[in-house]
Formats: sequence, structure tokens, C-alpha cells
Amino acid sequence: MKIVICPDADRARWLAAQVLARQVKTKPASVLGLATGRTMEAIYGLLAETARQQSIDFSGVTTFNLDEYIGLGAEHPQSYRYYMQAHLFQHVTVAAENTHVPDGTAADAEAEARSYEERIREAGGIDLQLLGLGENGHIGFNEPLSALSGRTHVVTLAQATLKQNAGMFGNDMARVPTRALTMGTGTILDAREALLVVTGDTKAEIVGRVIEGPLTALVPGSALQLHPRCLVVLDEAAASRLSQRDAILWQMQHDPELRDLLAV
Ligand code: GLP
Repeated sequence: MKIVICPDADRARWLAAQVLARQVKTKPASVLGLATGRTMEAIYGLLAETARQQSIDFSGVTTFNLDEYIGLGAEHPQSYRYYMQAHLFQHVTVAAENTHVPDGTAADAEAEARSYEERIREAGGIDLQLLGLGENGHIGFNEPLSALSGRTHVVTLAQATLKQNAGMFGNDMARVPTRALTMGTGTILDAREALLVVTGDTKAEIVGRVIEGPLTALVPGSALQLHPRCLVVLDEAAASRLSQRDAILWQMQHDPELRDLLAV
């Protein structure tokens, strides 16, 4: 893992947006893996703004989102398809038919999971996978105890996740769907590059377990320790429980790739 600690959340989100923008500039036919959640909202805003300012063309880009709630259709304001349209797709030049979010209303969710995996393969695999982190260590909706080599599948969400995401459902946990479709941890690990962005002190403890803790199905995000090209962007609050802070700062000062990134 290469890790960057930013002075604050705004800088972390801005850097993440620049990594995504650079990916599309360098490879206009990129296949992007995308994430949802509160952390990503500002990142997409900054990405759309950067795309506008620098005339970055998204018309050759293909996207695959990590996950979707089962039972919520594209018109449901809490569906991840709706979220993506609102926060990113309508603000960049990506072609609608090139944007993929698992279909939470598919009659056969298992078949949808298999077809989603197939579509990722047909697109040539994911170049850059953007990731957030659940407070319980989930990536996508791969909850604790998920198979670390899992493919796109149907999951039952953990209570901690329903609680964490209740804010988007009028603070009513009972309204959060209990099932979802998600890329598996194995699917995520297949991406050629991964970008994990975490901000805020509520995630400091789990960030420590993801980055420095043992590789364990109890913390699905710890599987990223296996990824050969994983960049982690943190703010000071999220990084506050890391024991290897000095080593990380040393890398930030001396690794040419990180120095380039930090110069933007
Ligand atoms: C949801 C998504 C995850 C995301 C998480 C983080 O659970 N399925 O992919 O990482 O939210 O959410 P937030 O950024 O709101 O803390």
C-alpha cells in the first residue's frame, strides 16, 4: 500500500478527485470502478468541476459501481443508481449505456450478480477502483466474514451498516434495505489499481485495522494489503490511530510517485 495523509478532509477529497481525473486524461477509454457513500459526494463534485475546467472527455469511459440495494430501482432517491446520476453521471460526458450499477430490481439477483461479473470481464477489467470504507471495515458491501476471494454476489447487510446508512433513510434503520448486490472482495482485488479514501475520526480505529492489522475476513478492507497497487488517501483524523505514521510520512517525502501526486 502507498499511503497519503492529508492535513484535512477537503485536501483528501481533492487529491482523490485529481487521481480519478488523471486516470481519464491518461487513458480516455478507462474502466472506472466507482463507490457511493457520503465521502464520495464531494469527490464526484470536485471531479466534475475538474473535468469541466480541463475539458476532460468522459465519452470513452466505462464505469462499474460496487454495489446496489436490493429492491431499490433507479428512480428511488436512495438507490445507488440515483446517487450516481445525481452526483456524477449527469455532470460529465459519460455515455449512459457505459455506466453500470448492479440492478437491485432484477427478478433473479443471483443471475444479475453473475452477469455483472461477466460484464466487467467483457469490458476488459477495471483500471482504477475507487473505494470508501464502512465503519465495520466493509468495502463495497462486503461485510465482516465475507470471503476474501468472493465475486459479485448477494449479501445480507450487517446491523452496523444499516445503522451507519440509516441517515440516508430518515434515520430509520428499519427503512434501510437488508439485502444488497455487491462486487466481491476478489472482484475488487482484480482491479489494476485501487484508491481507498477515508476521512474522519469515526473511522480511525478501523483504518488502523485495515492498514496495519492482520489480514482477516473480520475486516474485509484488510484484503487490500494483498493489492499490488493500492493508494490510500486519509485525512489526519482518519490516520490518527496509525502506529506507522513516521514511516508513512517518510514515504510521502521520498517516493517519487507520491511526491508527484502531492505536488498537484
Ligand atoms: C456504503 C457503501 C460503501 C461505502 C460506505 C462508506 O456502505 N456501500 O461502498 O464505502 O458506504 O460510507 P460513508 O462514506 O458514508 O461513510
